[in-house]
Amino acid sequence: MPLTATRHELGLLLAARPALAVLLLAGRAAVPIRRVPRLGWVSADPRIAREVLTDHRSFTLVAEGGVGHLWAQVLGDWVYDLFDGPGHHDLRTRARDLFTEATATRLVTGAWADRLCTARDDLASGAEVDVADLARVLVGRMLASLLGLGDLDDARARTLFATGERLAATALGSAADTTLTPDAVAGARVIVDDLTRAVPDAWRTAPPSTLLGRCRELGLGLRETTGLAALLMVAGTETAASAMARSVALLHDTGEQHRLLADPTRLPDAVREGLRVTTPAPVIGRSVKRDVTVAGRRLRAGERVLLLTWTANTARGAFDLDRPYLPENRQLWFGAGRHLCLGAALARAEVGAMLGTVTAAGRPWVVQRRRAARRALVPTYAELTVRLPH
Ligand code: HEM
Repeated sequence: MPLTATRHELGLLLAARPALAVLLLAGRAAVPIRRVPRLGWVSADPRIAREVLTDHRSFTLVAEGGVGHLWAQVLGDWVYDLFDGPGHHDLRTRARDLFTEATATRLVTGAWADRLCTARDDLASGAEVDVADLARVLVGRMLASLLGLGDLDDARARTLFATGERLAATALGSAADTTLTPDAVAGARVIVDDLTRAVPDAWRTAPPSTLLGRCRELGLGLRETTGLAALLMVAGTETAASAMARSVALLHDTGEQHRLLADPTRLPDAVREGLRVTTPAPVIGRSVKRDVTVAGRRLRAGERVLLLTWTANTARGAFDLDRPYLPENRQLWFGAGRHLCLGAALARAEVGAMLGTVTAAGRPWVVQRRRAARRALVPTYAELTVRLPH
């Protein structure tokens, strides 16, 4: 059973980008750290990944090779301060309680309760549900709620999700180079302006119970709030939808769904294992800021480092509800250090809500159809249709 699950997961990586699949698989040899022509330094060692991600003096994400460099070209040079300078520290300090477990639960209930209820009823009645599509609809609704765009029907939620996806696609191919073409910059700017059009109004007038209202109350200015909103839609769209759908598939393919159905208190274990095995952000890039020695190798200022977090996380074995907490890996699927995923609690709540929905009727599900997403930034299913036979 675990072999079937692994085969399907590898199929998703290959369909998304064959080069990514090759890098992640061949990268198993990049332990503790190796220099690879054209790519720079590559590591699949969880300890080295953490060492690099927490050494803010020697590594940065805003120079060539990091995601900050990419977004500075789209959003403007102020991103350098917001992503990695004193502005970042200030933002993270203020934003610390934006996504607590409690806020995340409230956000999920607020944006999803009705839609999840419909999905639960559909499943219980024996109807087919495409959980990959459902994940996109739900994440689109969450995005609308975070950006102050109101309540969306399924069609508009799908469109919003696709818009966020197009923006993230700007980063496609950035593993080798984070300098964007002028056309890519112009295209991404149009999307950001469109997606964040409701932010100024909401930031001024929304009640503190909303995310944008809370940003204002926390003392975040309009530019910071708009920057944060842009960041949320890039960071929290495809990653979350991918983890949600793939976790449903993994529980099915490994047969672990039966144990979860027998004991629903194992839901947090299922969420953690789903995030570990899928690691939806499979590679984290950094740029070397100053000469530094890592695992006995001398890294020079200006060089690039690719941390293969998917490889590091999946090296520990297949999806297994009994897998204990792994101190070396911790939550490497959310990164580490000062850029550790700001939306981690929300992401966990989102995956938990999806798994709670498919297990609600207490009956095992079968996968009717599945299709991998092609040429996707984040490996995922284009379709994953499940059904609960009576
Ligand atoms: C399963 C879903 C998710 C995964 C696997 C994930 C993963 C990550 C990772 C690996 C990073 C660190 C990137 C780096 O160090 O270069 C990150 C950063 C970030 N994530 Fe997530 N993320 C997820 C969902 C979300 C959600 C739902 C949100 C918010 C709506 C979000 C917001 C952010 C933000 C704002 C950052 C940047 C933090 C900073 O630079 O200080 N993420 N995420």
